[in-house]
Amino acid sequence: MLVTLQEILDLAEKGGFCIPAFNVYNMESVIGVLHAAEEERAPIIMQVYPRLMKEETGYFLSPTILAAAHRATVPVCFHLDHGPSELETTRSLRYGATGIMLDGSTLPFEENIALTRRVVETCAHLNVQVEGELGHVGTTKDEETDEFTTPEDARVFVEKTGVACLAVAVGTAHGRYKKPPKLDIERIKAIRAATNGIALVLHGGSGVPDEEIRKAVAAGIRKMNFATDVCYTFLDTCLAELQKPDRAIAIDTFMKKPIEAVAEFCKTRIRLVGADGRV
Ligand code: 13P
Repeated sequence: MLVTLQEILDLAEKGGFCIPAFNVYNMESVIGVLHAAEEERAPIIMQVYPRLMKEETGYFLSPTILAAAHRATVPVCFHLDHGPSELETTRSLRYGATGIMLDGSTLPFEENIALTRRVVETCAHLNVQVEGELGHVGTTKDEETDEFTTPEDARVFVEKTGVACLAVAVGTAHGRYKKPPKLDIERIKAIRAATNGIALVLHGGSGVPDEEIRKAVAAGIRKMNFATDVCYTFLDTCLAELQKPDRAIAIDTFMKKPIEAVAEFCKTRIRLVGADGRV
């Protein structure tokens, strides 16, 4: 069933676990994620990068995500990931998203607050809730950064914006890590305490060691994003299939293996963050 960001975060908070948020890119990745969620009886988020919402892909992909969510017997939230401006957030609302991220993390603090607040207010008219970001989570290609989120800034940001959850910079980055990251678990706990227990979001979940992920969930991470590993899983399986002399030629038949591989990968993450068997 299709649910809102708040509804799915409430499940996580009540159960003391974390919702895995998988980035999807095409119909096959949507089906793979759906199969994983159904088989593991897990609430999940399907999210879309904002560039897809600027291109025609978003127009075609959004109804696919909604179809999957309506077909699902587990809760599914359709979320915009890293919305940089009101163009992407508004378009995503029109396409039926039930969760929106406004990423103002590269803006000056007050501007991030003002833009996030505005999007929170617009979304509230449609019973859609917002994820904000404070302290920029960069990519693994960036130079090392010490721009970690501070508990005091997080307190002010959450209070002034009314976000439903907050993405924090605590040691992760987007992409493939050169060396496994070490998370600042104490900072996660301190931000939770300073913000009256706001649901915290960890970006850059691909390649984070399992033990770090478990500790982050125990400390209060309630949504965790996986994108890069979904892509590698899908594409590596396509490449391996292409090497086989007896490979399927019909595209739908060929895609069965990559779909299955995405489902298997997602199942491992669902279990790792404790979202299995929750529905
Ligand atoms: P990875 O690509 O590192 O898994 O990060 C995903 C993410 O945080 C999407 O916003």
